[in-house]
Amino acid sequence: GFTAGKSLGCYQDEKTFRLLSGYYANLKTTNSPKHCINMCLQSGFPYAGVQYSTECFCGNEEPPSASRRPDSSCNMKCPTDPREACGGYFTINVYETGIAKFTPQVPREVAESGESPVRIAFLLTLNGRALRQVRRLIKVLFHRDHFFYIHVDARQDYLYRELLVLERSLPNVRLARHRYATIWGGASLLQMLLSSMNELLELDWEWDFVINLSESDFPVKTNNQLVDFLTANKGRNFVKSHGREVQRFIQKQGLDKTFVECDTHMWRTGDRHLPWGIQLDGGSDWVALSRPFVVYVATAVQDALVQKDPLVEGLNTVFKHTLLPAESFFHTALRNSHFCDTYVDNNLRVTNWKRRLGCKCQYKHVVDWCGCSPNDFKSEDWPRLEGTENRQLFFARKFEPSINQGIIDQVEEWLYGPYPSTTANLQSYWQSVYHYADLSPPPDDSLVTLATSLTRISTKSFVLKGGNGCLIHPGNVLEVTSYHNNDNYKGTLVLYEAVLNGGTETVSFETRVMPQHYMTILKDTGPGGRLKSLLVSSDYDQKEQLSRNFLRNLGPFSEPILVYQLGANPQPSTYNVTFLWVDPAGQLVEVSEVHMEDGQVTNYVKPLLREPLLPGVWTVKMVYEAAVVAFSQFLVTPLQFVSGANVSQQQAGFLHSGPGQPYPIHDATDWNKLLDNTVDRSALQRKALVNARRFGLDLKDWIDSLNLKFYKVLNTCVTSSSVHAVSKCGKLHLELCENTTWSSLAPDPKSQIGLINLTTGRL
Ligand code: UDX
Repeated sequence: GFTAGKSLGCYQDEKTFRLLSGYYANLKTTNSPKHCINMCLQSGFPYAGVQYSTECFCGNEEPPSASRRPDSSCNMKCPTDPREACGGYFTINVYETGIAKFTPQVPREVAESGESPVRIAFLLTLNGRALRQVRRLIKVLFHRDHFFYIHVDARQDYLYRELLVLERSLPNVRLARHRYATIWGGASLLQMLLSSMNELLELDWEWDFVINLSESDFPVKTNNQLVDFLTANKGRNFVKSHGREVQRFIQKQGLDKTFVECDTHMWRTGDRHLPWGIQLDGGSDWVALSRPFVVYVATAVQDALVQKDPLVEGLNTVFKHTLLPAESFFHTALRNSHFCDTYVDNNLRVTNWKRRLGCKCQYKHVVDWCGCSPNDFKSEDWPRLEGTENRQLFFARKFEPSINQGIIDQVEEWLYGPYPSTTANLQSYWQSVYHYADLSPPPDDSLVTLATSLTRISTKSFVLKGGNGCLIHPGNVLEVTSYHNNDNYKGTLVLYEAVLNGGTETVSFETRVMPQHYMTILKDTGPGGRLKSLLVSSDYDQKEQLSRNFLRNLGPFSEPILVYQLGANPQPSTYNVTFLWVDPAGQLVEVSEVHMEDGQVTNYVKPLLREPLLPGVWTVKMVYEAAVVAFSQFLVTPLQFVSGANVSQQQAGFLHSGPGQPYPIHDATDWNKLLDNTVDRSALQRKALVNARRFGLDLKDWIDSLNLKFYKVLNTCVTSSSVHAVSKCGKLHLELCENTTWSSLAPDPKSQIGLINLTTGRL
């Protein structure tokens, strides 16, 4: 269905012949065999942008394969009566005569004098909860002449709600209302980009370029440098090509597979033939596109009435079923259309690829494919960023302040100079973990249970310290925030409401807690002597090699993982280690065998545990050469809430009784010998049965008594709006949250967005 393309002048004319593609079709004709081949030759096969020649073969087999080429005289079994149909198949082989040596444009260095500076639409495609980093990104890019169009993943209520307020004060900021659940690598990513670009065209914003950025991008050149560069290159399109052999790229990307996005998953449904007559190209999905090209690819994407270019329409269909579609769509549309001579093979970004860490098949729960992700830049990666200085690179990815904020500070200072020395809390970073107003993603019941318990523990502690008879009843948890300082996790903050003296007035407090790490080394032989940490958490990130669950809250439905860290060894060794998982009833429930490789200083073990996990204190023992060399304890909290509501007695019985099935453990007797034999297991089992019946106040007491052991309350503050009411109640000697250095309400100027400076146009 492709129309003949004229030669577009994008290819060098070399006298080389190369087989581009084969094609076969079932042909029925009432004419003679000779007519078959004539039809074949006449139908031709236009190959857009490429000089081609065709060669035809006919035969009775399907398809006439290259290895068993059918007779080129088209020897088909045709009936002698010319009125009857002559059946057969034919192949057209399309040869390139001017070989597709594509030569991208070289960008210009300097704009001609008098050219008006370009205006940029930054298309921010966001996911997660790193609100303060997004604000910092907007701040660093902001100029009133530029535009910010923000798409937040449809499942992220928090980011959407918190950014929506920017529309009120900044006329050049707009959030997409039509939102997609843009899963990693999903077809919806391209649909979202095209829909957002289309909306950008419909706004009365006069932009010249659109640049897509994520929450983990940051500039490595100033805005002025970017504007100067793009002004010199108006009308060009910046994309990064893979730079390898096309067929290998196609296979690596899964472009020859059909994917179907459904239920926030990319299902691989089978192999497919790619469209004929198209030169596939791709690489990175981070691009900088000119307005005319955006008009060409994105105008009225959803409008069935608008006449679209057949190439764009065809690509839209193919890419609806393509993994990582934005990594190829724009490149391919550029190369095969009349925009081919605007193609620049540079997407203006530097990406921190560390494939040994980033290609661990970490998205297989979302896509039926093994994809890769770049790593976060850390302070030690500075030389790489500094090296972009004299190159046409304007952005870098990825940055995550919860992993390393120091490098972001360094880049920003490099570009715009240091912040004034009086700037408060420059080294701090806060990231939301929970907000009471979020419906999506649904709150984690174990987190809300833990946070609520911590409000009870904290309130008790400061009321006891105050000792003045002021009765405080903790109420709802408003927010949970992770607090980091100087690139170290410094605790989790729980902002909560409380009622004073049984009244109706609510006040709010924030409390900072730190999870306690229980690790005991029994023997310093082998890995025991090198062990730096042995802890159980969840959400292990294989790429960044840490658990993202900083608070380490685990509930009956969590998937615990064990993270171990060994100190570097001058004499490298490998160890065969076994981990024994013992539940709160003293039962051995899982045995994990691990081969500790040399050089792997941090690693993790994922046990196969049945749900619901038995709540209480668990132990994991590290066995080396038939002896326990270390152990660690962790807490699986019982649940106070299920889907946000208090659990009933019946629910508690189900949730807190463990999986109710025996664990089949190989060689259990041998392993059991290594467990603590002074423990009365039947007493522990009876206790677990009693615990499973606890509900209401009794359940809360149980939860609090467990959390008291595993969490330490460090500080509590009172919010400024509550201080008056609290002072009437009695002297509690609490700090004002806004005056602390740690509270989520403490000043954070680097991420604060104020009004536009009328002189500079910036924030
Ligand atoms: C890498 C490559 O850099 C990228 O080019 C490719 O598309 C995916 O792999 P990676 O770090 O793995 O990127 O992905 P990430 O930056 O987390 O996500 C890519 C984009 O999708 C971001 O804009 C992100 O906000 C968005 N996204 C991701 C969602 O909107 N929802 C999700 O659930 C995941």
